[in-house]
Amino acid sequence: MSFDNGLIDFRSDTVTHPTPAMRAAMAQAAVGDDVFDDDPTIHRLQERAAALTGHAAGLFVASGTMGNLTALLTHCGRGADVILGDQSHIYLNEVGGMAALAGLSAAVVRNQPDGTLALADIEDAIREEDVHHPRTRLICLENTQNICGGVPLTAEYTRSVAALARRHGLKLHLDGARLFNAAVAQGVPAADLAGPADSVMFCLSKGLSAPVGSLLCGSAEFIAEARRYRKMLGGGMRQAGVLAAAGLVALEQMIERLEDDHAHARRLAAGLGAVPGIVLDAAAPATNMVYFSMRADAKLTPAQLAEAVRPAGILIEGWSRIRMVTHAWITAADVDRTVAAVRAALT
Ligand SMILES: Cc1ncc(COP(=O)(O)O)c(C=O)c1O
Repeated sequence: MSFDNGLIDFRSDTVTHPTPAMRAAMAQAAVGDDVFDDDPTIHRLQERAAALTGHAAGLFVASGTMGNLTALLTHCGRGADVILGDQSHIYLNEVGGMAALAGLSAAVVRNQPDGTLALADIEDAIREEDVHHPRTRLICLENTQNICGGVPLTAEYTRSVAALARRHGLKLHLDGARLFNAAVAQGVPAADLAGPADSVMFCLSKGLSAPVGSLLCGSAEFIAEARRYRKMLGGGMRQAGVLAAAGLVALEQMIERLEDDHAHARRLAAGLGAVPGIVLDAAAPATNMVYFSMRADAKLTPAQLAEAVRPAGILIEGWSRIRMVTHAWITAADVDRTVAAVRAALT
């Protein structure tokens, strides 16, 4: 696929447009009032999401951020301590909602370069019972871990954190915004990665190309309670079956092809790694993200590089550490054109 706007957009996989099959499904979707639990298309999507993640029930939410916050509220109520990574999306990039809206404190643990939290660090972060302490209630993991390079966590690691959580009477939530990238990259069912957690959120609107929406999955009791918090957060969406219809197409047609995005990311890294001035984080990225920085003696700063390739219709973010994300709307030819444009700008 390529964008009808002619752009090669590496800023995120969230820029993907709904596919023609999604648009057709949206036009024909059977709908009902989902606050009355009456929307048959949303029911189908929630059941499919639950089955894919190895949980009993699912809940359609407006965004990943809403799904994570709903999960935190459902597990913790207000005023508890949540253990999570210093590079996690929930901690860094969800506007502090866990503190501002859920009244939760963050017990921040350093993310290891492979995206994990060391088990010993997690144990150290658990608060002892003391009248001065907030109670630790929840551990959060992120798979794939975005800022650590789009790295996938293994099922074995997730099971070990789930066992630790159980030993201490805690719950485990998985921010699986890109869960299916992690599953495809490792050749394992998503349920192996998400099943050990008490809840998982995954996004339809990133690499899977749906226009809107995420799913929160967990036990039937957890999801019944989460429905109430979703409503509190303004997420009761009425005839949202038109959106769920696109989500069903995403789950049917867009998961296996994520391997193409990963191959394109490896191709991009191989090309960029040979350009003078570029220092890759990983020579062979595991999923759909290529991170790099510029050597101090490079011809351009990241912001200047982003400006230099813009006239060729190539969009990248000029942060100090550049992230380029591949997705369904980027082809191998787009990758090659981009590498050539970057090389021309830097040499
Ligand atoms: C790891 C991770 N979690 C959660 C989110 C939040 O998703 P949304 O943008 O749908 O709120 C994102 C979005 O980029 C993400 O990368």
